[in-house]
Amino acid sequence: MTKEGFAHHRPQWKTHLGFVLAAVGSAIGLGNIWRFPYLCYKNGGGAFLIPYVIALVVVGISLMVLEIGLGHKMRGSAPASLAGVSKKWEWVGWWQVILVMFGIMLYYAVIVAWCLNYFMFAVNGAWTDNPGNFFFNQFLMTSSGPFQFGELRTPIMLALLVVWGVNWLIVFLGVEKGLERANKIFMPLLFLLTAVIVIWSVRLPGAGEGIKVYLQPQFERLSDIRVWMDAFGQILFTLSLGFGIMIAYASYLPRKTEIVRDAFSICVINSIFSLFAGFGVFSVLGYMAESTGKQLSEVVDQSIGLAFVVYPKAISLLPAFSREFGLIFFAILVIAGLSSGISILEAFTSALIDKFHYSRKTVVSAVSVAAFVGGLVFTSRAGLFWLDIADHFLTSYGLVVGVILECLVVGWVFKAFRLREHVNHFSAWKLQRWWWDVSVRFIVPLVLVGLIASSLLEELASPYGGYSRLAVVLIGRDWLIFTAFAAVLVSARNWKSEPAERMITHKNA
Ligand code: PHE
Repeated sequence: MTKEGFAHHRPQWKTHLGFVLAAVGSAIGLGNIWRFPYLCYKNGGGAFLIPYVIALVVVGISLMVLEIGLGHKMRGSAPASLAGVSKKWEWVGWWQVILVMFGIMLYYAVIVAWCLNYFMFAVNGAWTDNPGNFFFNQFLMTSSGPFQFGELRTPIMLALLVVWGVNWLIVFLGVEKGLERANKIFMPLLFLLTAVIVIWSVRLPGAGEGIKVYLQPQFERLSDIRVWMDAFGQILFTLSLGFGIMIAYASYLPRKTEIVRDAFSICVINSIFSLFAGFGVFSVLGYMAESTGKQLSEVVDQSIGLAFVVYPKAISLLPAFSREFGLIFFAILVIAGLSSGISILEAFTSALIDKFHYSRKTVVSAVSVAAFVGGLVFTSRAGLFWLDIADHFLTSYGLVVGVILECLVVGWVFKAFRLREHVNHFSAWKLQRWWWDVSVRFIVPLVLVGLIASSLLEELASPYGGYSRLAVVLIGRDWLIFTAFAAVLVSARNWKSEPAERMITHKNA
């Protein structure tokens, strides 16, 4: 096929910067703002940066190159790219995109919806009296267990509708007019607002104490295997790897592209953002500890508790402009969440378009409606339990197994050296066999098998999070099984056009 033929059939990023911003937009998400700083604090402060950077180099950068290189070479979504390697393994690509779309995205969109709700609450400080009580009892109205659904919470449902409306619109408009344009607005805005918050926070009284707790190294923590597991798990999640997202984004690149340098930049920008955001988060916690006369360890919390309970409380304690601070903070979360969400929707959409040649507009509309409906369970009064269980199983197992399979298929079936040669053909920065091939074929799969094994051991000792066995089996394990089953079914269907034909060879242009 000619170069024109490819360009005609496949959308393309208009600018190189557009691609990098979109990939960075996918990577920077809720995980950078509420998870990274907490992991640092919990896992030895500054010392955590050692396993984190090792994970970044060994797993993060290698896989980022793998996904961008594969998407670029195969010019297709994850299923199309893996089917281009071997039809036998196509299901792995489907599993990745189904797992992220009809798994992670269902609740990720609900959390973005909460952020939108909180953005509104910031206007009148609705949470002020007692943020914990407000969040759990008035806002979520959390029930007593995963199967006590109660009603769907109207404010959350409405916000979810808005979130899906925005996701739908951006992806509906396509790669250049939708995704690229949205990220060109979102990313500068995100950086600017984050800078405002961080500069503001580090000047609060007590901020220094907070930062000290965030980064003071405790090297003895490094002997704990869980610290290393957290580092590797966080790197996969924060870089949006293992879900076919970077594969889809890279499939819209032009032929001439600096794959290695781009992969490297995306990884570095994402980590710097995390580190930077952490200064803001911990400064505010330090301020809060000082103004309430408590120890920082008494006020700190993770993920959902951090963003929706601790932080709102800290915001309401601010001496001045607390409303503005709240608005900016939740705006940051909404923007970071939207730019990640659209990448998930795109990864799934492009897979269906590649395989069945449906129109983008039809696919995006149908998938958005289905995902909104599927996400409703998370807006019920049992939503928080579902979210917690689904998140644990999908990211600790689904994601990791997906990445292991992806490495094995590319490293052993396709052969790592072939993809390395493809990437090096286009890149000024060259991949070296001694680290890249070795990472993809051996190190990453082995490290991740270790990760899974240790999580499984913990799981067998006691069901996750103290939930009933039934809840964990139904919401956790079966979600993985059903999505894998769906993946196998879809991959058995015929392709409208042969995936291997899309491949870029060094001759075809
Ligand atoms: N990388 C995003 C974050 O850190 C989350 C995400 C995971 C986005 C998987 C897309 C796919 O929040």
